[in-house]
Amino acid sequence: MMSIYLLGLDISTTATKALLINLQGEVVAVASAAYECASPYPLWSEQWPDLWWQGAITSIRAVLQQTGVAPAQIVGLGLTGQMHGLVTLDAQQQVLRPAILWNDQRTAAECDDIRRRIGRANLIAITGNDALTGFTAPKLLWMQKHEPDLYKRIAHVLLPKDFVRLKLTGGFAMDVSDGAGTLLMDVRGRTWSAPVLTALDITAGWLPALFEGTQVTGHITREAAVTTGLLAGTPVVAGAGDQAAQAVGVGAIHEGVVALTLGTSGVVFATTNTPMIEPEARLHAFCHAVPRRWHMMAVMLSAGGSLRWWRDTLAAISPISPLSYDTLMTLAAQAPAGCEGLIFLPYLTGERCPHPDPLARGAFVGLTVRHTLAHMTRAVLEGVAFGLRDNFDLLRHAGLGLISQVRISGGGVTSALWRQILADVLDTELVTVNTSEGAAFGAALLAGVGCACWQNLDEACASTMHITGHTLPNATSVLHYAQQRQIYQALYPALKKI
Ligand code: XUL
Repeated sequence: MMSIYLLGLDISTTATKALLINLQGEVVAVASAAYECASPYPLWSEQWPDLWWQGAITSIRAVLQQTGVAPAQIVGLGLTGQMHGLVTLDAQQQVLRPAILWNDQRTAAECDDIRRRIGRANLIAITGNDALTGFTAPKLLWMQKHEPDLYKRIAHVLLPKDFVRLKLTGGFAMDVSDGAGTLLMDVRGRTWSAPVLTALDITAGWLPALFEGTQVTGHITREAAVTTGLLAGTPVVAGAGDQAAQAVGVGAIHEGVVALTLGTSGVVFATTNTPMIEPEARLHAFCHAVPRRWHMMAVMLSAGGSLRWWRDTLAAISPISPLSYDTLMTLAAQAPAGCEGLIFLPYLTGERCPHPDPLARGAFVGLTVRHTLAHMTRAVLEGVAFGLRDNFDLLRHAGLGLISQVRISGGGVTSALWRQILADVLDTELVTVNTSEGAAFGAALLAGVGCACWQNLDEACASTMHITGHTLPNATSVLHYAQQRQIYQALYPALKKI
C-alpha cells in the first residue's frame, strides 16, 4: 500500500518551514527558507508578504525533492504562523503595504483609542483581551490615521499564514485561534464581533470566513500546484496561530495540561473547556485550535532571547569561538542556586506578561565583588524562570484548576540545567515529549484530522506522541528560590518609577 504523509507549513517571523510527517508522527523531511524583518523606524517591524510565499514555494519544493515523496502521497496541508500581523490587500488582491508584525510597537495611541471607543472592561469581556500594541486591530487604526489613502483601498484583511493560504487555494479564510489574536472577535462565540467592528469603523466584508482548526478551507489550485510541486486538489485545513499549533504539537489539548515553550519568547499555554477571561486581561484569552476549546496564554517576550543576548555579549570578549550554549551552561553550573543574591530581570525588549509594559527594562541587581561570569550566566537562567513563574501564578489566580502536567518544549529546554532550574522555580514536575518540530508539527496533525487520517486530535496525539523525560523539583532549591522570588517580584515595581 502507498504510504501517505501530511505537510505542516509554518510562516514564522524568521523563516517559512515545511515539515513532512508520516502517520506515526515520524519526521520524514523538514526544510526552511529564512528572511529578515525590516525596522525602517524605531518600534516598527514589517515584512512583505511575498517573502512568506516565496519561502513557502522554496521549502515545499525542498521537502519534495529531499524525499522523492510523490505529491499524490500528501493527503493534506496544515498552516500555522506568526500571529497578529496585519496584511492588507486591495480589490485586485494586491498587497497594499508591508505587513505590520506582532512585534511592532508603534500603536500605543491606537490602543488607547480602542479602549476609549469600546470601554476597557467591555473590550475585555467581548474579545477576552485588552488592546495591546502587538494585536491586529490597533494596526488597522494606525493605517486609518496615518495612511488614509491606502486605508481607503483596503478590500481584504488577512493574517500572515492566511495570505499564504490565499496563494495556495485562492480562498479567503482564517482559523479561530489566530482570529482571536486580531482583537476583533467575540471570543466566546468564536465569530467576528459586530459591536467591535462598528466601534472601530472596520468593514466586516474585509474579514475572511472563520473556521475551526481542523476544517478544510480549500484545495491547492492548479496555479499553486505548478509553483509548489504539490498536487492540485490537495486539501488545506484552517490550521492555527503558532502558539495554539505548538500546543497541539506537544499534545497540550486538555484542561490541566499546560504547555511551556522556551524559545526566543517564553509562553505558558493552558487549555480551557470554557472561555476563561481574566478580568484585568493580564493573560490572553484566545480560542484553541481544538474545536470548542479555548486557552489562556501568557507571553514573556525575552526568555531564550535573554540568553541569546548574554551569549552574544560575552562572545565579543570570549577567547572561545564560537561561544556555544553548552559552554554557557557549563559556566552557569559553577554558580550556586540563587547566585549568592544576584538577580537578573529579563525585560530586555519590554514585557507583555505579567507586566504589559513596552518600557520595562532588563537589569542585574545585587552585584558584589564575589560575583563572576558564572553567577551572571546562571542569574539569566534563573531570572527567566522567575518571569515564567509569575505567569504560572497568573494562570492560577485566573481560576485555572489543577495543573496535572507541564509539557516543555523549545530550544531552551534542551539544557538539563535550565530544565532543573525551571522545575525548582515552578515547583512542579516537567515532562518532555518526543516531538520537537513545534507549531509545524501541530499544523500537520490538524491537517491529518481534517483529512480523516484520525478521528480527532486525541487520536492524532496518541498515535504520534509519547513522553520521553521527567524533571522533578529538588526540595532544597524550591525553598531557596521561593525566598529569592520575593525579591525578584519587588524589583519591577520598584524600578518602574525610574
Ligand atoms: C503570540 C505572539 C507570538 C507571535 C510570533 O501572541 O505574539 O507567538 O505569534 O511568534
